[in-house]
Amino acid sequence: MKIAVLPGDGIGTEIVAQAVKVLEALRKDGEKIELEYAHIGGAGYDAAGDPLPEATLKLSKESDAVLLGAVGGYQYDTLARPLRPEQGLLRIRKGLGLFANLRPARVYPELVNASTLRAEVVSGLDILILRELTGDIYFGQPRGIRTLDSGERQGFDTMHYSESEVRRIAHVGYQIALKRNKKLCSVDKANVLDTSMFWREIVTEVAKEYPQVETSHMYVDNAAMQLVRFPKQFDVILTGNIFGDILSDEASMLTGSIGMLPSASLDSNNKGLYEPSHGSAPDIAGKDIANPLATILSVAMMMQYTFGRADVSQRIETAVHKVLHQGLRTGDIFEAGMQKIGCSAMGDAVVKAL
Ligand code: IPM
Ligand code: MG
Repeated sequence: MKIAVLPGDGIGTEIVAQAVKVLEALRKDGEKIELEYAHIGGAGYDAAGDPLPEATLKLSKESDAVLLGAVGGYQYDTLARPLRPEQGLLRIRKGLGLFANLRPARVYPELVNASTLRAEVVSGLDILILRELTGDIYFGQPRGIRTLDSGERQGFDTMHYSESEVRRIAHVGYQIALKRNKKLCSVDKANVLDTSMFWREIVTEVAKEYPQVETSHMYVDNAAMQLVRFPKQFDVILTGNIFGDILSDEASMLTGSIGMLPSASLDSNNKGLYEPSHGSAPDIAGKDIANPLATILSVAMMMQYTFGRADVSQRIETAVHKVLHQGLRTGDIFEAGMQKIGCSAMGDAVVKAL
């Protein structure tokens, strides 16, 4: 298992260090794991003047999987857009063809009370947001800031989805749904956007190939509301890049904390980039208080999806479960009666439980 490790910025270095502890423990147990580090985001800019240095993309292409922390920091906010940390992330997703982004939101019984929603609303929740990751308004051209004939300035972006892009993500959605509860809800804004009308047309066509799966369509505004009203109605949510960005942050809070949400971004051969769904949290960076569990759970996803090792994946998830059961909590999921620990101690606890 050749894994490129890209810690990135902010809490990225701290949380990735914990996930690496887990990988090293697995190696001690005989798994053939090879790790190689590279810079991305602000760290890439600092080291090589580029948020995605050429060497980083090359290493990532040559590896079987990529483990990524997070990118971004206050000191980079004033850089020109092509040099911003986020560009490193967007370019590596595009450069590796990682069009399928899986963001599972699962509520661990131990964390039912950590959610801002009532326990009965979230208890037992297990949904998966499948976000298309290399198209949509994120990458559409033209875009920019222009001056109109009137002399007024205008910002603009372009939303589009081609048929092949919608088709391939829809197929991934159905394949996943077949292995889960066989329900797929496609989320769009077909009452307003032509891109969405087209999206719905193609998903409806693909749906015919999967009669075993119950398909529904929902407007994104309604989906945002339903996610907090009655989230257990969902199994797989299939959606485009920007709607998926927004809905997956919303879904993370159902689980108690965005610090618990892993993600996998896959190409058509299950090569993948694995990262927590959260950002670099510069406000708490360097304090050893971040929650490393989303990153550790991302390693579990890596074992399952890229390496086909459901056994190892399960082992990591069980270890995380055990640690929560022991009452160990980072600050973001802390509640009275539990034991508050730091990022590094949480990593150690998972390794011990492993
Ligand atoms: C995410 C993040 C990124 C995105 C940013 C950092 C570019 O919010 O992974 O959800 O918008 O995709
Ligand atoms: Mg986001």
